[in-house]
Amino acid sequence: MPEIALTQAPAHIRHGSNIGQPLTRRDGVLKVTGTARYAADNHPPGMLYAVLAVSSIARGRVAFLDVAAAKAHAGVVEVMTPANKPALAQDPDEKSNPFMFRLDLLQNDRVRYANQPIAVVIAATLEAATEGATLLSPRYETEPARVGLDANETFVPAVVGPGHPPAAHRGDIETGLAAASKRIEATYETAPQYHNAMEPHAIVATWDGDTLSIDTPSQGLAMAQGRIAGLFGIAPGKIHIRSPFLGGGFGSKGMISGPQVLGIMAARMVGKPVKLVLRREQMFGPVGHRAPTRQILRIGADNDGTLKALDHRTKTASSSFDDFFEPASDASHTLYASSAIATSHEAVRLDTGTPLFMRAPGEATGSIALESAIDEMAQACGMDPLAFRLKNYAEVEPISGKPFSSKALRECYSQGAERFGWERRSLAPRQMRDHNGLLVGWGVGTATFPALMFEGHAKAVLRQDGSGVVEIGAHEMGQGARTALDQIAADSLGLDIDQVDFRSGSSDLPDAGIAGGSAHTATAGVAINNAGADVIAKLADLATNDSRSPLFGAGNAGVIARGGRLFRRDDERRSEGYSDILGRSGLAEIEGQGASVANMGAPSTYAMHAHGAVFAEVKVDPDLGQMRVTRLVGAFAAGRIINPRLARSQLYGGMIWGISFALHEQAVMDARSGRPMNPNLAEYHIPVNADVPSLEAIMVEEHDPHVNALGIKGVGEIGITGTAGAVANAVWHATGVRVRKFPITLDRLIEAQA
Ligand code: MOS
Repeated sequence: MPEIALTQAPAHIRHGSNIGQPLTRRDGVLKVTGTARYAADNHPPGMLYAVLAVSSIARGRVAFLDVAAAKAHAGVVEVMTPANKPALAQDPDEKSNPFMFRLDLLQNDRVRYANQPIAVVIAATLEAATEGATLLSPRYETEPARVGLDANETFVPAVVGPGHPPAAHRGDIETGLAAASKRIEATYETAPQYHNAMEPHAIVATWDGDTLSIDTPSQGLAMAQGRIAGLFGIAPGKIHIRSPFLGGGFGSKGMISGPQVLGIMAARMVGKPVKLVLRREQMFGPVGHRAPTRQILRIGADNDGTLKALDHRTKTASSSFDDFFEPASDASHTLYASSAIATSHEAVRLDTGTPLFMRAPGEATGSIALESAIDEMAQACGMDPLAFRLKNYAEVEPISGKPFSSKALRECYSQGAERFGWERRSLAPRQMRDHNGLLVGWGVGTATFPALMFEGHAKAVLRQDGSGVVEIGAHEMGQGARTALDQIAADSLGLDIDQVDFRSGSSDLPDAGIAGGSAHTATAGVAINNAGADVIAKLADLATNDSRSPLFGAGNAGVIARGGRLFRRDDERRSEGYSDILGRSGLAEIEGQGASVANMGAPSTYAMHAHGAVFAEVKVDPDLGQMRVTRLVGAFAAGRIINPRLARSQLYGGMIWGISFALHEQAVMDARSGRPMNPNLAEYHIPVNADVPSLEAIMVEEHDPHVNALGIKGVGEIGITGTAGAVANAVWHATGVRVRKFPITLDRLIEAQA
């Protein structure tokens, strides 16, 4: 294969080719001018509006719906209920693989959680459909809701997260604890969180006979296509999904959700295009969430602060009818070396919607508990928490014993600490004040996230005029994929980015795999890179086998592609332009295909992770307990950075979520009704500008030859993991008060102090 001229220069240095450049978003103008078309912006002719009626109880059955009153309302066209819904080809409660989640599609009158759809009103206007849904005035037979981690029998799930075993260990934990000279045991709790993407789940569905055309946000087009095909009994190829932009997904749009399918059913029922958009409060139930956890950490160390035992037990919750278990204890698999490590999970079934992957699922929940406990252990040893981490961070993956693909973590600790000024930190808490008398605290947390890759496919075309086309059903959900992947596309063809027509966001393009697990750039990027390489190899064959070409006889591996020309590797003065090669051959274009191969769970010599270290400063009012994060410095090693501007933005996003996790975000469930009490963005707190301080994200240079051909790791989720713990630890350092229930709210701080 000929070489594609990828830069070997440090990722943060501008170097002249596309990869590594801090380009602004290619779709930026579309977005800021409002011309980027999101799902709900579509209005096909004749379109009707569907509005969900959702359950106000968490468990029981719907005894009565006043369908007549709703239908009598002006503008209402149809009311879809379990009695008249269109037939499906597949039971929505069928589950033939772990990622086929059970959906509530009006299959019966049962209510399994609050905000479950119980009817759909379809009308000529949004207002009429909304009023019609109100007029349904449901009556229920209510059963007591099971709310909270103690509300039902405890059991051990068969698998946690994406199919991981529920327990793992290395060495004997009790022996390790017994041998330790210092021990801590502490219980931490994390709250339920809901994805709350800025764009709610929305769909515009149009049937034409048995073909289906839909506009809907999707993090996994082929998976959505497959699920819909099964439910409606049509071939996947009959379904065209357009998803050019998502207003965030965070995992909730990875699989097609029940409400999206209800929109398709509504369109089938009325024989017209139908739009269905979730109201904010309707997102607190049927589209997934992060389950609550209670985590018990037992840690032992010897006199010089060397870890001897690390036991991490998690209790979490799933719904009464389906399985997803937040794998919080797995966070202890990758961070700290200890001769004995044990992790385990147990769970309870509650009357909630089924939890789901949500931004660093397991890593976020698990790491805030682990990082807090590590801090408590450092304190017990009388050691600086950074020094304790430097002594105990893992150089091989602790449970598997596999070498990490890099040892860049140490560099993250040292670059982050230096930038932050960590050496000026007082060892004891409650020692530092600012000029206004506010308590100042500094905390550190280690960041970790697996370097995943899924299966993906791409197509590349080189046209006779020397321009290129790259096609992949990739997902632009605000993270910048369109830009970063376009950069890879341009380099893969050895072209300038403006010479490449980059097409993505549609199910009729090659399957890009799922945009999740911080793996989209690696997955789609490697597929694109291979598609481009396939084109260039064919082009090189044409040239090097043609006696009229200056490249004749160089051999396929003897040329390099750059700037729209092929160069002889051993003599760069000899080159030929793409259009000259194609023109002479009489070909209008050359097409190439590329794929990436999933690495999840693949037996591998190396443990693949991105790493980081985050340093936080908080200020706390000593009288009122009011907390603010005033400074955050993160240092991250995440392989090759395709676009430093966008990668930094992703790292910032994660760090802000870390602040949210530590101090703000929680769904409060009413213990009596099982309803979320704060299903809106006024009371479900997330950080606003005033909560977010000066952020710094240092991208530590890392060349990892093992993760994939481009050396790409993920930057989307890792920022949450170190930050949440760093903020929690900074609150302790400011106040001397350890709050073990997250988020750390003012009342909890005061309560823990009392
Ligand atoms: Mo996700 S939980 O969208 O990686």
